[in-house]
Amino acid sequence: MTDPLQHRIAAALERAVEAARADTSGELASYIPELARVDPEPTGIAVAGLGGFVEEAGDARVPFTIQSVSKAFIAAAAYDRLGLDAVAEHVGMEPSGEAFDAISLEGGRGRPKNPLINAGAIATTSFASEGDADARSAAVVHVLGEFAGHALVIDEDVRDSELATADRNLAMAHLLHAAGHLGASVDTAIRVYTDQCSVLVTAVDLAVMAATLAGGGVNPITGRRVVGQDAARWTIAMMASCGMYDSSGEWLVRVGLPAKSGVGGGIAALDPGFFGVGTFSPRLDAVGNSVRGVRMLRDLSDRHGLHMLGHFDSVGPGR
Ligand code: DON
Repeated sequence: MTDPLQHRIAAALERAVEAARADTSGELASYIPELARVDPEPTGIAVAGLGGFVEEAGDARVPFTIQSVSKAFIAAAAYDRLGLDAVAEHVGMEPSGEAFDAISLEGGRGRPKNPLINAGAIATTSFASEGDADARSAAVVHVLGEFAGHALVIDEDVRDSELATADRNLAMAHLLHAAGHLGASVDTAIRVYTDQCSVLVTAVDLAVMAATLAGGGVNPITGRRVVGQDAARWTIAMMASCGMYDSSGEWLVRVGLPAKSGVGGGIAALDPGFFGVGTFSPRLDAVGNSVRGVRMLRDLSDRHGLHMLGHFDSVGPGR
């Protein structure tokens, strides 16, 4: 028999999906041609607890490309490999206050502001692994699979489509290289970064990946350590301040769960020490976050008091 708590979680997820389906606002990402062709309707959500349970609702097993959600997990891999200070020589820790694809380099040619915007992610990816482009790409896909708990694959059509239209990312990589902030050649960095963004995941995968960070770097399904606790904590802190692009501040106030979104329609969110959530729905709002994903997470946080900074139960009755 299902545990009563899990039963309540399942009911809450069903409710969140049904409410979100009524919202048909937003647009598909169109700057990557292949993403403009996806079905806009699928909507799913999953929660993974640190004890290893997973509950899901809606289209939580529909695959989509991870896109920028990958940036958080590859940042964790780079922090784990090099440590915070070494990564911070090349990629900062401040919200950028700009669009995800802004040419955002301090003083015009310095460090990118943080690892969760394109400029910063291209740099962190280049420091997350070593070897030639194939070896680095395999390593990055492997570590994403360790977070998810099973091997993941690249959607080659999306990858080719994005590579063919990667002028802005290439321009950023050239500027990073000129400033000494790239740990690979420009072509290798962009190939590996684009492969990383084209990895196929589901909402269930994102929930487990987020739960792995929430558990301090240990995957709750496989029991394997993927990154150390320090790297998990630094990454969660970056997600809290920078994970939802230019609405990160409002997100932290209203929802209060460190999160990372992607233009493929995914969001990974988490409460450290408790759980991970993955959502999927492809239509995006003006800053690039999934409209229905944001709705579902706001709905759950409001109804169930999930705000990470509002765990006041232990201080006694409120006013
Ligand atoms: O580099 C890009 O533009 C994409 N591969 C990823 C961007 C992304 O997901 C931004 N998200 N909201």
